Amino acid sequence: MTKQSATKSIVVLVSGNGSNLQAIIDNISENRINAKIAAVVANQADAYALVRAENAAIPAIFIDHTSFATREEYDAKMISCIDEFAPDLIVLAGFMRILTPAFVEHYKGRMLNIHPSLLPKYKGLDTHQRAIDAGDTVHGASVHFVTPELDGGPVVLQSKVPIFEQQDPQELAQRVQQQERQMYPLVIKWFCEDRLKMFDNKATLDSEILTEEGYAIG
Ligand code: GAR
Repeated sequence: MTKQSATKSIVVLVSGNGSNLQAIIDNISENRINAKIAAVVANQADAYALVRAENAAIPAIFIDHTSFATREEYDAKMISCIDEFAPDLIVLAGFMRILTPAFVEHYKGRMLNIHPSLLPKYKGLDTHQRAIDAGDTVHGASVHFVTPELDGGPVVLQSKVPIFEQQDPQELAQRVQQQERQMYPLVIKWFCEDRLKMFDNKATLDSEILTEEGYAIG
Protein backbone atom coordinates (compact mmCIF):
# COMPACT_ATOMS: atom_id res chain seq x y z
CA MET A 1 0.00 0.00 0.00
CA THR A 2 1.38 3.44 -0.89
CA LYS A 3 1.67 5.95 1.92
CA GLN A 4 -1.00 8.65 1.79
CA SER A 5 0.58 12.13 2.04
CA ALA A 6 -1.10 14.81 4.17
CA THR A 7 -3.54 17.17 2.47
CA LYS A 8 -1.54 20.04 0.99
CA SER A 9 -2.49 23.68 1.24
CA ILE A 10 -2.26 25.76 -1.95
CA VAL A 11 -2.38 29.50 -2.63
CA VAL A 12 -3.16 30.40 -6.25
CA LEU A 13 -2.06 33.73 -7.76
CA VAL A 14 -4.10 35.07 -10.68
CA SER A 15 -4.61 38.15 -12.85
CA GLY A 16 -7.41 37.25 -15.24
CA ASN A 17 -10.04 34.76 -16.33
CA GLY A 18 -8.97 31.88 -14.11
CA SER A 19 -9.74 28.90 -16.35
CA ASN A 20 -6.68 27.13 -14.92
CA LEU A 21 -7.84 27.97 -11.41
CA GLN A 22 -11.24 26.47 -12.25
CA ALA A 23 -9.63 23.26 -13.48
CA ILE A 24 -7.71 22.97 -10.19
CA ILE A 25 -10.85 23.68 -8.12
CA ASP A 26 -12.75 21.01 -10.08
CA ASN A 27 -9.99 18.41 -9.73
CA ILE A 28 -9.86 18.97 -5.98
CA SER A 29 -13.64 18.78 -5.57
CA GLU A 30 -13.66 15.55 -7.61
CA ASN A 31 -10.99 14.15 -5.24
CA ARG A 32 -8.39 13.80 -7.95
CA ILE A 33 -5.97 16.06 -6.03
CA ASN A 34 -5.53 15.73 -2.28
CA ALA A 35 -5.29 19.45 -1.52
CA LYS A 36 -7.16 22.48 -0.33
CA ILE A 37 -6.95 25.92 -1.93
CA ALA A 38 -6.42 28.16 1.10
CA ALA A 39 -6.72 31.41 -0.86
CA VAL A 40 -6.73 32.98 -4.30
CA VAL A 41 -4.81 36.26 -4.60
CA ALA A 42 -5.12 38.65 -7.56
CA ASN A 43 -3.34 41.83 -8.58
CA GLN A 44 -6.33 42.91 -10.73
CA ALA A 45 -9.61 43.91 -9.08
CA ASP A 46 -11.72 42.72 -12.02
CA ALA A 47 -10.03 39.32 -12.43
CA TYR A 48 -12.85 36.84 -13.10
CA ALA A 49 -10.74 34.30 -11.21
CA LEU A 50 -11.79 36.10 -7.99
CA VAL A 51 -15.45 35.36 -8.80
CA ARG A 52 -14.58 31.71 -9.43
CA ALA A 53 -12.87 31.58 -6.01
CA GLU A 54 -15.87 33.14 -4.25
CA ASN A 55 -18.22 30.71 -6.00
CA ALA A 56 -16.13 27.89 -4.58
CA ALA A 57 -16.12 29.46 -1.07
CA ILE A 58 -12.37 30.12 -1.25
CA PRO A 59 -11.01 33.37 0.28
CA ALA A 60 -10.52 35.76 -2.68
CA ILE A 61 -8.05 38.55 -2.04
CA PHE A 62 -7.17 41.54 -4.20
CA ILE A 63 -3.86 43.30 -3.59
CA ASP A 64 -3.51 46.33 -5.84
CA HIS A 65 0.00 46.62 -7.23
CA THR A 66 -0.61 50.24 -8.25
CA SER A 67 -0.76 51.31 -4.60
CA PHE A 68 2.83 50.23 -3.92
CA ALA A 69 5.81 52.42 -4.84
CA THR A 70 8.13 49.57 -5.75
CA ARG A 71 7.95 45.97 -6.91
CA GLU A 72 9.84 44.98 -3.74
CA GLU A 73 7.21 46.55 -1.48
CA TYR A 74 4.38 44.88 -3.39
CA ASP A 75 6.04 41.49 -3.22
CA ALA A 76 6.74 41.91 0.51
CA LYS A 77 3.03 42.59 1.06
CA MET A 78 2.15 39.56 -1.05
CA ILE A 79 4.48 37.36 1.02
CA SER A 80 2.96 38.51 4.31
CA CYS A 81 -0.55 37.89 2.98
CA ILE A 82 0.24 34.48 1.46
CA ASP A 83 2.19 33.23 4.48
CA GLU A 84 -0.80 33.75 6.77
CA PHE A 85 -2.21 30.69 5.00
CA ALA A 86 1.02 28.68 5.50
CA PRO A 87 0.80 27.11 2.04
CA ASP A 88 2.80 24.08 0.92
CA LEU A 89 2.56 25.19 -2.71
CA ILE A 90 2.15 28.46 -4.62
CA VAL A 91 0.48 28.07 -8.02
CA LEU A 92 0.82 30.87 -10.57
CA ALA A 93 -2.22 30.55 -12.82
CA GLY A 94 -2.12 33.42 -15.29
CA PHE A 95 -0.44 35.76 -12.79
CA MET A 96 0.89 38.43 -15.15
CA ARG A 97 3.55 40.12 -13.05
CA ILE A 98 7.30 39.78 -12.90
CA LEU A 99 8.31 38.57 -9.44
CA THR A 100 11.27 39.90 -7.47
CA PRO A 101 14.20 37.57 -6.69
CA ALA A 102 13.28 37.83 -2.98
CA PHE A 103 9.76 36.55 -3.66
CA VAL A 104 11.02 33.69 -5.83
CA GLU A 105 13.68 32.72 -3.28
CA HIS A 106 11.10 32.71 -0.47
CA TYR A 107 9.02 30.06 -2.28
CA LYS A 108 11.92 28.17 -3.85
CA GLY A 109 10.97 24.58 -4.74
CA ARG A 110 7.31 25.14 -3.94
CA MET A 111 6.12 27.52 -6.65
CA LEU A 112 4.84 26.37 -10.07
CA ASN A 113 3.91 28.36 -13.18
CA ILE A 114 2.13 27.53 -16.41
CA HIS A 115 3.33 29.27 -19.56
CA PRO A 116 1.71 29.15 -23.02
CA SER A 117 4.70 28.00 -25.08
CA LEU A 118 7.08 25.10 -25.42
CA LEU A 119 9.81 26.56 -23.22
CA PRO A 120 12.56 27.59 -23.69
CA LYS A 121 10.84 29.03 -26.77
CA TYR A 122 8.83 32.24 -26.45
CA LYS A 123 9.35 33.39 -22.89
CA GLY A 124 7.30 36.47 -22.03
CA LEU A 125 4.19 37.69 -23.84
CA ASP A 126 2.32 37.16 -27.13
CA THR A 127 3.51 33.58 -27.43
CA HIS A 128 0.85 32.29 -29.87
CA GLN A 129 1.46 35.00 -32.47
CA ARG A 130 5.22 34.60 -32.11
CA ALA A 131 5.00 30.85 -32.75
CA ILE A 132 2.86 31.47 -35.86
CA ASP A 133 5.16 34.23 -37.13
CA ALA A 134 8.17 31.96 -36.73
CA GLY A 135 6.54 29.38 -39.01
CA ASP A 136 6.44 26.73 -36.26
CA THR A 137 4.23 23.72 -36.90
CA VAL A 138 4.03 22.74 -33.23
CA HIS A 139 3.22 24.90 -30.21
CA GLY A 140 2.00 24.19 -26.69
CA ALA A 141 2.27 24.90 -22.99
CA SER A 142 4.77 24.17 -20.23
CA VAL A 143 4.48 23.77 -16.47
CA HIS A 144 7.70 24.60 -14.65
CA PHE A 145 9.12 25.39 -11.24
CA VAL A 146 9.67 29.10 -10.78
CA THR A 147 13.27 30.33 -10.46
CA PRO A 148 14.62 33.90 -10.68
CA GLU A 149 15.01 33.69 -14.48
CA LEU A 150 11.68 34.71 -16.09
CA ASP A 151 9.95 31.59 -17.48
CA GLY A 152 13.32 29.86 -17.10
CA GLY A 153 12.86 27.33 -14.27
CA PRO A 154 13.02 23.56 -14.79
CA VAL A 155 10.20 22.21 -16.92
CA VAL A 156 7.97 19.52 -15.38
CA LEU A 157 5.56 18.81 -18.21
CA GLN A 158 4.86 20.03 -21.74
CA SER A 159 1.85 19.52 -23.93
CA LYS A 160 1.93 20.03 -27.71
CA VAL A 161 -0.66 21.14 -30.25
CA PRO A 162 -0.28 21.52 -34.03
CA ILE A 163 -0.19 24.90 -35.79
CA PHE A 164 -2.24 24.73 -38.99
CA GLU A 165 -1.90 26.71 -42.24
CA GLN A 166 -3.40 30.22 -42.00
CA GLN A 167 -3.57 29.69 -38.26
CA ASP A 168 -5.76 32.10 -36.28
CA PRO A 169 -3.92 32.98 -33.01
CA GLN A 170 -7.12 32.99 -30.97
CA GLU A 171 -8.06 29.50 -32.08
CA LEU A 172 -4.52 28.36 -31.31
CA ALA A 173 -4.72 29.93 -27.84
CA GLN A 174 -7.96 28.05 -27.18
CA ARG A 175 -6.39 24.71 -28.08
CA VAL A 176 -3.34 25.46 -25.93
CA GLN A 177 -5.57 26.43 -23.00
CA GLN A 178 -7.56 23.22 -23.36
CA GLN A 179 -4.27 21.34 -22.85
CA GLU A 180 -3.35 23.58 -19.92
CA ARG A 181 -6.51 22.61 -18.08
CA GLN A 182 -5.50 18.95 -18.32
CA MET A 183 -1.81 19.24 -17.56
CA TYR A 184 -1.69 21.72 -14.66
CA PRO A 185 -3.92 19.65 -12.34
CA LEU A 186 -1.80 16.58 -13.10
CA VAL A 187 1.43 18.33 -12.13
CA ILE A 188 -0.17 19.75 -8.99
CA LYS A 189 -1.36 16.25 -8.10
CA TRP A 190 2.24 14.97 -8.41
CA PHE A 191 3.45 17.74 -6.12
CA CYS A 192 0.72 17.08 -3.57
CA GLU A 193 1.63 13.38 -3.51
CA ASP A 194 5.25 14.34 -2.66
CA ARG A 195 6.41 12.85 -5.96
CA LEU A 196 7.55 16.09 -7.59
CA LYS A 197 10.44 18.11 -6.18
CA MET A 198 13.06 20.61 -7.25
CA PHE A 199 16.70 19.96 -6.28
CA ASP A 200 19.67 21.92 -7.50
CA ASN A 201 17.57 23.70 -10.16
CA LYS A 202 16.33 20.38 -11.55
CA ALA A 203 12.83 18.94 -11.40
CA THR A 204 12.54 15.35 -10.19
CA LEU A 205 9.57 13.00 -10.35
CA ASP A 206 9.77 9.90 -8.14
CA SER A 207 13.43 10.87 -7.58
CA GLU A 208 14.24 10.71 -11.33
CA ILE A 209 15.61 13.92 -12.87
CA LEU A 210 13.26 15.09 -15.62
CA THR A 211 14.55 16.02 -19.07
CA GLU A 212 14.66 19.60 -20.35
CA GLU A 213 11.24 18.97 -21.88
CA GLY A 214 9.94 17.63 -18.57
CA TYR A 215 8.22 14.30 -18.06
CA ALA A 216 8.18 12.09 -21.13
CA ILE A 217 6.56 8.69 -21.32
CA GLY A 218 8.90 5.78 -21.77
C1 GAR B 1 -2.86 30.88 -19.55
O1 GAR B 1 -2.89 30.59 -20.93
C2 GAR B 1 -1.45 30.86 -19.03
O2 GAR B 1 -0.63 29.93 -19.71
C3 GAR B 1 -1.00 32.26 -19.31
O3 GAR B 1 -2.11 33.05 -19.01
C4 GAR B 1 -3.30 32.32 -19.30
C5 GAR B 1 -4.21 32.44 -18.10
O4 GAR B 1 -5.47 31.91 -18.39
N1 GAR B 1 0.12 32.61 -18.49
C6 GAR B 1 1.12 33.37 -18.89
O5 GAR B 1 1.17 33.89 -19.99
C7 GAR B 1 2.22 33.58 -17.86
N2 GAR B 1 3.41 34.04 -18.46
P1 GAR B 1 -6.52 31.68 -17.20
O6 GAR B 1 -6.58 32.99 -16.39
O7 GAR B 1 -7.80 31.39 -17.91
O8 GAR B 1 -6.03 30.53 -16.37
